[in-house]
Amino acid sequence: MDKIIIGGGRRLSGRVRIGGAKNAALPILVSALLCDGANIYDNVPRLQDIESIQRLLAHMGARIETDGSSVQIDARGLCDAEAPYDLVRKMRASVLVLGPLLARLKRVRVSLPGGCAIGARPINLHLKGLARLGAKIDIVHGYVEAEAECLIGNEIYFDIPTVTGTENLMMAAVLAQGETVLRNVAREPEIIALENALNRMGAKVEGAGTSVITIEGVESLHPARIEIIPDRIEAGTFLVAAALTQGDITLTNCEPAHLGAVIDKLRGTGAEIITDGRTIRVKGPDEIISVDVKTLPYPGFPTDMQAQFMVLMSVADGVSVISENIFENRFIHVSELRRLGADITVSGNTAMVRGQANLTGAPVMATDLRASASLILAGLVAKGTTEVNRVYHLDRGYEAIEEKFSALGADIRRER
Ligand code: EPZ
Repeated sequence: MDKIIIGGGRRLSGRVRIGGAKNAALPILVSALLCDGANIYDNVPRLQDIESIQRLLAHMGARIETDGSSVQIDARGLCDAEAPYDLVRKMRASVLVLGPLLARLKRVRVSLPGGCAIGARPINLHLKGLARLGAKIDIVHGYVEAEAECLIGNEIYFDIPTVTGTENLMMAAVLAQGETVLRNVAREPEIIALENALNRMGAKVEGAGTSVITIEGVESLHPARIEIIPDRIEAGTFLVAAALTQGDITLTNCEPAHLGAVIDKLRGTGAEIITDGRTIRVKGPDEIISVDVKTLPYPGFPTDMQAQFMVLMSVADGVSVISENIFENRFIHVSELRRLGADITVSGNTAMVRGQANLTGAPVMATDLRASASLILAGLVAKGTTEVNRVYHLDRGYEAIEEKFSALGADIRRER
């Protein structure tokens, strides 16, 4: 198993190009299942999760060709409407095939994803929505078995905003008969990106980014060429790295408008942030100011940035209260950060972080994608050497992160 070794204490400086967004690419690549033709996707990040979803689509009969960061997916030969447990348990975003396969093949069998490190993560709202469109749904031997002779548009109210739940229903509704209105939907930029991709294929979707999305069903979709939006969480991770190390980093190919809450919080810590078109320049403060954070659905502070921000607060000048309001178990990184000397007390969904003058390096264990990113960040500032183990978690969502940090001056290497 690979590990990443970091020598702390270096100031980071220079330019880093932000890659395509994992959480936009996953639903958009899956939406190829809706189309009777070959779609081309550009700026697709090369990540484990992307490889997993491509394997799943190929397992179902799609033809996939990749050329660098461009991917062609031809779903004309779709033959198998099943997502097996072995694939789904490794990557829960596989549940995104539910909507498109139901729409295209009128039946689908997808393994229930089960829980994951950060929480139970049920898909009850996905299934409730699909049933509202007329699907007959059974849970048999750990699988969702769904079928619908014809999906009929309807009004669907989500009890809570769910990102992949919204995406699943958008994709199911684009080929349904009549109009579907989705209420209390997620408003993330990745939802807007999916709407744009579906509309480029001839769908009629509007409202993404607001809490109501309206979809007028169409007969079929046609192929299109689609560019994946930049990854706001990768960008946020590098912004925190600059703030942590009193660095001076310019991010290119990113979308500042997707990072409003993160930029606002970082300015509160004393970081200087200048945005210009698709670049963001960040200069870290000499003294990091402690600020409180609550994770919320977009446009609130993203849960996927909570672990990274906690590292910054671990070396700030006071006490920060961080509350995690999206997932019920997303403080797993705390015990690893404590091994590096962080002073963090957890009570329920709230972590109290007392800023420390310094952290000291140690061997630590990655447990989930964003927790592993926080351990890399902690290693950048911890005195001495930090060894992050089980970095396969990291490789799910960050492309060549050690090369990017090394190019910014970090003392970092991967050991295979
Ligand atoms: C998406 O997960 C992202 N993944 C997650 O990013 C992200 O943390 C999350 O949205 C929240 O923003 C992808 O887009 C592939 P949710 P998703 O449904 O859709 C509850 C990363 O690091 N819920 O928005 O699975 C759920 O338990 C990953 O890249 C139900 O109760 O999250 C959670 O508490 C981690 N029933 C809340 O809603 C449902 O049917 C929000 O979850 C669905 C969700």
